[in-house]
Formats: sequence, C-alpha cells, structure tokens
Amino acid sequence: MTPIHHYDVLIIGSGAAGLTLALRLHSHLRIAVLSKSLLTEASTYYAQGGVAAVLDHDDSYASHVEDTLIAGAGLCHQDAVEFTVEHGPEAVQWLMQQGVHFTSEESSTDPHLTREGGHSHRRILHVADATGLAISRTLIDRVRQLPNVDLLENRMAIDLITRKKLGFPDQDRVLGAYVLNTERNCVETFAAPFVALCCGGASKAYFYTTNPDIATGDGIAMAWRAGCRVSNLEFNQFHPTCLFHPKAKSFLITEAMRGEGAYLCLPDGSRFMQRFDSRAELAPRDIVARAIDFEMKRLGARHLYLDISHRPAPFIKNHFPMLYERLLGFAIDITKDPIPVVPAAHYTCGGVITDLQAQTDLAGLYAIGETACTGLHGANRMASNSLLECFVFAQAAARHIHQQCTNVSTPTDLPSWDSTQVRDPDEDVVILHNWDELRRFMWDYVGIVRTNKRLQRALNRIQVLRREIQEYYSNYRVSNNLLELRNLVLVSELIVRSALSRKESRGLHYTLDYPHQEAVARDTVLVPSTSEG
Ligand code: FAD
Ligand code: SIN
Repeated sequence: MTPIHHYDVLIIGSGAAGLTLALRLHSHLRIAVLSKSLLTEASTYYAQGGVAAVLDHDDSYASHVEDTLIAGAGLCHQDAVEFTVEHGPEAVQWLMQQGVHFTSEESSTDPHLTREGGHSHRRILHVADATGLAISRTLIDRVRQLPNVDLLENRMAIDLITRKKLGFPDQDRVLGAYVLNTERNCVETFAAPFVALCCGGASKAYFYTTNPDIATGDGIAMAWRAGCRVSNLEFNQFHPTCLFHPKAKSFLITEAMRGEGAYLCLPDGSRFMQRFDSRAELAPRDIVARAIDFEMKRLGARHLYLDISHRPAPFIKNHFPMLYERLLGFAIDITKDPIPVVPAAHYTCGGVITDLQAQTDLAGLYAIGETACTGLHGANRMASNSLLECFVFAQAAARHIHQQCTNVSTPTDLPSWDSTQVRDPDEDVVILHNWDELRRFMWDYVGIVRTNKRLQRALNRIQVLRREIQEYYSNYRVSNNLLELRNLVLVSELIVRSALSRKESRGLHYTLDYPHQEAVARDTVLVPSTSEG
C-alpha cells in the first residue's frame, strides 16, 4: 500500500499557469504542485518573446482585442478576449511585484515594448530574449518560500480520480489523481477536492517542435478520460522560425527578431513575405508559416533564412543576447550571417473547454494555460498572448476556488492504484518505435497543409497504435514513456478527428480539399462517450 497524500488543491504542472495558481491561492490552503520532470522543464521556461499587455499611452484595450480577433480568424470568443486583455496590465504588475525585472527603455525606467506578428502596436514586455527563464525562476523562488505549498518534481499524473469512476451515483466530481513517482517507481494517490490541469500543450505530437519533451498533451487526455469536452484541437500552431541545424533540437528564433526588423529570405537572399501579405514578416503566424512552407516546397529547399544582420551589431547583441551567444555556438554570427530556419509545431490552440473561471465540465476540475481552450485564441493564437492567458486565468481560478472551498470537504477513502494484474514490460522498444512512428506521420499527414486523404491515413494508423498501446497499458507496469505515448496517441486522434470534421480552411487549419472559409465561424467540439479512454 502506498500512502495517500491529502491536499486542498492539487496543481498538475509547474509552468506559468501552475505556479501562478499556487501563488494566487490563500496561504491557509494545503497545496501540491506536481511536475513530471524538473520544475523548469516546461514551455514557460523556454519562452523568448514576452508577455503581451496594453501599457503604452498610444495603445488601447480595443486595439489589443481587435488584433487578437483578427489573428484568431473569426473564431475567438469576444468575452474571453476582452477578459484577458483587460486583466493584462494587472497581471504584469503582479509579475513585477513577484520580482520579474522586465527590460526597460534605455532612457527611462518604463518597460521596453517590442512587437510581434499580428500586433498593431508595440505591447510585448520582455526580459531581453529569455523572458520565460526569468519568469520561471522568479515564480519558482517565490513558491519555494510558501510553507503551505509542496513543490514535487518527478511526479507524473496518470489519471484523475472521479466520483463516477469510483461508481458513486450522485453528481460527478474530481477527487484527486493517481501519480507515478518516478523517483520511487511507485504509483501514489493524491486526494484533493480541487484539481487544476496546468500541463501545457501537445506539440510533441509532431516530429519537429519548438517544445520541450513534456508537451505530450497529458492534461487534455486526462480531462477527456474524465468526461470533459475538448475544442478546436485542429488548430496546431507552427512557429515560422525554428533553427535548422543538425545539432540544434527544438531551438526557437523569437518572432521579436522580426518585430525588430529581421527579414525572411529565400536562399538567394531575396525577401518574399510581401508577396503573401501586406504586413510582410509581421503577418500572423499561420500566414507566415504557410508562406515559408509554400516557398520551401516550390524551391525544394530544406530551409529558408531569417536575417537581422542589416541592423547595427550593438543593437542586435543588446536585444538578443541569449540568441547571439547560442547561435555563435553553432558558428552563426547573427550580426553578419543569416539564420537557417524552418517552421515547427509550437502551440496547441485548442484544449479542454473552460469558462472564464477556468472551470471544466467536471466539478472541482480546472484547466489553465495551454491545456485549456478558453476561447482566447480562436483559430490562431497571436504571439505572446499565451503567457498572458496563463496569468489571467490562474488568478480567475484562484478566485473561484476561494469562493467554493468552504462548501467542499477533502475526499477520503480513495482506493490505491491496483498493479496486481500487471508485470514488467518485456520489450520497451515497441514503445520507442510507436513514439517515432506517431510523430513522423503526424508531421507528414497532419501538418501545415492537409487533405482528407492524408488525415484519413493518419487516423487509420492512430487507431492501430491506440489498440497496441492500450494492450500494453493493461498488461505491463506503467512507465513515463508508456504514459506519455498513451496520452499523445489519444490527443493525436482528437486532433485528426477535429481536423476531419472542419470542412473549410480557417486560421491554422488549411486543407486543399476545402480551401475556402465558411461565412459563419463554428468551434469544433468533441464530447467523450462513456466508452472513451
Ligand atoms: P508549461 O509551461 O508547458 O508547463 C507544463 C507543466 O506541466 C510542466 O511543469 C510539466 O512537467 C507539467 N506536466 C505535464 N504533464 C504532466 C503530468 N502528467 N503530470 C505532472 N506534471 C505534468 N508564449 C508567450 O506568450 N510568449 C512567448 O514569448 C512564448 N515563447 C515561447 C517559446 C517557446 C520555445 C515555446 C515552446 C513556447 C513559447 N510560448 C510563448 C508559449 C508559452 O510558453 C506556453 O504556452 C506557456 O508557457 C504554457 O504554460 P503552461 O503553464 O500552460 O504549460
Ligand atoms: C516567440 O518568441 O517568437 C514566441 C512567442 C510566442 O509563441 O508567443
């Protein structure tokens, strides 16, 4: 028997969403924050560009809202956009109070605001070109100081425990989660009346991605298996500029570089973006990534180039110190050389459906950050809106938990994880092979340009893989790799099913079979049946 850990709030994830929630909750609540690997292994840590918020006198909420709605290609929920934008300045103030020192203007203490695609104003606060690192470190330090919070590394949530799963007849509610402790190699039970899924996105479904390894869609998969609806999963954002280099895995070149004047170029050095959009390099990401994909296919090129070398060297080194150093390590001097770039999977716009308090369909369960679909991003997320969403919705969830927590008691008597029927796996190579296969065909068939035939081909493969993985899961002791693959293959199926159901091209979903855009924008909503999971 492994012990049961009792908490008031269980937060699964130690990125911007999870850490902010822990810090925003009252200090009398007992809180656990789980991270399936190191605390810093989260997309948040790798964020470069910054956080979007209206701070400039010439800027306005209306303008930030309008830019977000345009980038979202008609599918954003206006209430979620207004809610996020209007809470932006407060969220940024809070970050500063926690100790985040945003880069300031040379001549004053005002924050320096940079630009990124889709934004009509300078409104991105940043810490040079390593904003996520500064935010992660600051928030982790702050959480470590809280005596009511346990920060637990190497704890991978497997599945949620719910009243329905335990066979209780009355209203369903989350009761906690089963968690694989990878240090002790055992499954532990965490009991809590409130659980927040802050698990990040699912971009590891694709072979080429800017994301760290943790981005396997665990939160989306766990919520789905617990009966929650998901929405808009066909909208996978491909970042236009990931470094193309044999030794560089997942290395992003920030869009802020284009915001500060960098050009996208063909192998002959000529610019091309103005042929695709009047905003050229600063068009929203879906347009820029598709243009790069089109030109690469047209020319048979393995990559294109991003070039900022026309700007003065001191300016480049001052604005992009981390990139300057890292790229020098690859023998690319960005003050002189163009950078070879390709698009790569970057952000999951869809996710678990939530309201403006981050509540999911299941009582007591919240989803925050990239795991959630709040309606903010629509069919294409605008740059630097995602960190903002984490901060704003974590605060909203904390407010809601405070209102609810006096009426709800901590669950007791949860059954332990049953591993009596399973044995040690005999051939782990099956898992590794399936990982590779899944991510390769998702890249080939469910990428930037889609067709019904390619999507159907992917779905057939996924169904075979799902059966194999389910069999493995039922018979063998669980491991990180197996659990992640089980989640990723499920989320990939949800992505493909969503893509097949959209009979139009909109935002990030572009299909040669339906190149037009319908007059009316509709969310794709998938509802789990009782036999799902
Ligand atoms: P994450 O920060 O990804 O954290 C997820 C956490 O969940 C991790 O701690 C992980 O260990 C944990 N977890 C996952 N599954 C489990 C499980 N089963 N059990 C236990 N723990 C689990 N956005 C911007 O707004 N501005 C930017 O400049 C920007 N730059 C980016 C640059 C890069 C390279 C990348 C990859 C993304 C960038 N984004 C940016 C997007 C943004 O960083 C993410 O959307 C955001 O950080 C997500 O935060 P999160 O808290 O939802 O998830
Ligand atoms: C970047 O710095 O280009 C990433 C910004 C984002 O994804 O919001």
